[in-house]
Amino acid sequence: MKFKKNILCIGAGYVGGPTMAMIASKCPDYRVTVVDINPERINAWNSHELPVYEPGLDKIIKKTRGKNLFFSNNIEKAITENDIIFVSVHTPTKTFGEGAGKAPDLQYWEKTARQILENSKSSKIVIEKSTLPVKTAAAMEKILAPAKGKIKFEVLSNPEFLAEGTAINDLENPDRVLIGSRDTKNGLKARQELVNIYSRWVPKEKIITTNIWSSELSKLVSNAFLAQRVSSINSISALCEKTEADVSEVAKAVGMDSRIGSKFLQAGIGFGGSCFKKDILHLAYLCEYYGLPEVAAYWESVVKMNEYQQQRFIMNILSSMFNTLAGKKICVFGFAFKANTGDTRESPAIYITRKLLAEQALVTISDPKALKNALLDLSDIEENVKYEEDPYKAAAGCHAIAILTDWNIYKNLDFRKIYKSMIKPAFLFDGRNIVDHAKCFKIGFNVYPIGKPAMSHFKTSEKDNSNSR
Ligand code: UDX
Ligand code: UDX
Repeated sequence: MKFKKNILCIGAGYVGGPTMAMIASKCPDYRVTVVDINPERINAWNSHELPVYEPGLDKIIKKTRGKNLFFSNNIEKAITENDIIFVSVHTPTKTFGEGAGKAPDLQYWEKTARQILENSKSSKIVIEKSTLPVKTAAAMEKILAPAKGKIKFEVLSNPEFLAEGTAINDLENPDRVLIGSRDTKNGLKARQELVNIYSRWVPKEKIITTNIWSSELSKLVSNAFLAQRVSSINSISALCEKTEADVSEVAKAVGMDSRIGSKFLQAGIGFGGSCFKKDILHLAYLCEYYGLPEVAAYWESVVKMNEYQQQRFIMNILSSMFNTLAGKKICVFGFAFKANTGDTRESPAIYITRKLLAEQALVTISDPKALKNALLDLSDIEENVKYEEDPYKAAAGCHAIAILTDWNIYKNLDFRKIYKSMIKPAFLFDGRNIVDHAKCFKIGFNVYPIGKPAMSHFKTSEKDNSNSR
């Protein structure tokens, strides 16, 4: 079959894979190729066991793979053959040199741009899918400028707003699709190519076009605002625990104000995931770079509050369990950074588990999808940690359970059965506020939610305990 257009995506990760699968499924007359420097990733995309777990993804892959969706290791050839190239390689926080710990590490990005330049025999549209600092497109244009002869590159920004766990729905029914371009004849022509792809399934009014810099910045700001809401409600959860207010009640009352809205007001152990922390730090670094230290400090505080929330959770466990965890068995329910994904990047569970181990607790980790990644995250630790997918087996013989991921399965467990199998007094630390606290208390657990009064069977007042910090 002759295809109308050939599209390429460089970077077969959590974003590149699902996004290209959706485009292939909605545009059967387009040939979509996905490449990656990691051959194992590509092999996995070509196998039965996809490299990312995402509800609904396997169905779309089955429908398109081998028909108009192809995963390949041959990056050079793919660049030569395709005229529309999405770039979705990761941009982690720099760990070295100037800006270490804050600035984005753009080496993969630049390497990819150079690879595109070297292997192009015709003009191409290059689309930034990754989240990037404002003005990256300008750097990209400079790298691509030495192109030979009539070859021209047009750089567009088309940031991805999908969230893991709901990626397929987010791609199919996006709140908006954002396309940033240059306001030149060629820029607008390239933009139209991209509009043509999305308008196959996205209503016209949801496809918004802006200048490149607004588009790049909007992605960072969207994530910063979302993370800020989580940090805001988490800051209030600390106050609730001191004042006997209930953070869920406060969140509901506040969120019902239509100007505020109800989403992203769920208090917990803090946000994780590959984007929020990195993007806020990038935003803050950008502000510093442009001589706006107050603005940088404002956004950095969102990350600080997130760290504080995780520390608070650990301190709560420690003080409630008589200030010692040494030799105590603690079962961790959930290691993924949120429900419905096996991804553990920046998961609060990593920090919390390490802290528990540092207190010499014996930790059993349970998770329906993330155990493989958990093992990698803790690969330097050989002792005192076990992995068990079955939550009942994992909790048996433990002193405490800490719920760290909001998986649905943890809401409906038989907590009576679990309580019976545990060492008494049994503790339940609900880091996601997902179980029925009153019911678990009745069963016999000492229950410690986030941002709500603790329910303990001990005579000493919890207030004394929590004020001991
Ligand atoms: C992407 C974006 O890159 C990130 O900036 C954005 O904030 C979220 O979406 P994600 O898809 O989650 O990140 O990252 P990851 O799963 O790590 O995928 C990136 C892929 O690019 C990896 O498979 C990696 O092997 C590949 N890669 C990296 C290349 O193909 N070439 C490189 O030079 C570097
Ligand atoms: C995020 C953005 O939502 C998405 O638009 C962007 O493109 C990539 O980054 P993702 O990282 O997949 O997506 O997860 P998200 O659903 O935003 O959750 C991030 C973290 O916040 C999770 O750890 C989650 O548990 C936490 N969270 C979220 C809360 O603690 N409370 C809430 O109310 C909502």
